[in-house]
Amino acid sequence: MKFFVDTADIDAIRELHALGMVDGVTTNPSLIMKSGRDIREVTKEICDLVEGPVSAETVAPDAEGMIAEGRELAKIADNITIKVPLTWDGLRACKVLSDEGRMVNVTLCFSANQALLAAKAGASFISPFIGRLDDINLDGMELIADIRQIYDNYDFRTEILAASIRTVNHVTESARIGADVITAPPAVIKALVSHPLTDKGLDAFMADWAKTGQKII
Ligand code: E4P
Repeated sequence: MKFFVDTADIDAIRELHALGMVDGVTTNPSLIMKSGRDIREVTKEICDLVEGPVSAETVAPDAEGMIAEGRELAKIADNITIKVPLTWDGLRACKVLSDEGRMVNVTLCFSANQALLAAKAGASFISPFIGRLDDINLDGMELIADIRQIYDNYDFRTEILAASIRTVNHVTESARIGADVITAPPAVIKALVSHPLTDKGLDAFMADWAKTGQKII
């Protein structure tokens, strides 16, 4: 399973990238706003650091605008993935941009039928939002499972990019179901390493080691 980092914070990306944990990056207008930086500038910096796909989102209300913005964003770097919303305009833009050989990530997916449409429009990635479904008492993981089954039934090549990941359990479940990619905030990726028994075990080993009075170096 590939790990994308869901942030426009370059320091956070750099830290995880040094550990080999970054197969790609996703951004959105809210994350760009949070970074306080110019979209072109920060996206270029991310693309220079990360070899894998870097999603940059269009903001135009109609397909023509999304296509124009997508082509513009694609000039930033070869690894740009153009993100468009799951609307008819977004799907039209997806079809045109995909036919041009560009990577497209269709975002704000909340149903299996929407995911089916995105695959038919040639999306490279579909982004079902798990956390936002959980927020309204629906089951985000059930959506990931439904899309996995549907894509496998018909051999769609679109990759399932499990998004809006809020907890480490979302990561485990996405991996169990077979999502191709997860995109998670840096804090969630960092939290994956934590286990109280690891901490407890390490403390005990260190305490016993100190009693031996030995040194390795
Ligand atoms: C994905 O591409 C989105 O940027 C992101 O996962 C949204 O997450 P949120 O629902 O926590 O804002």
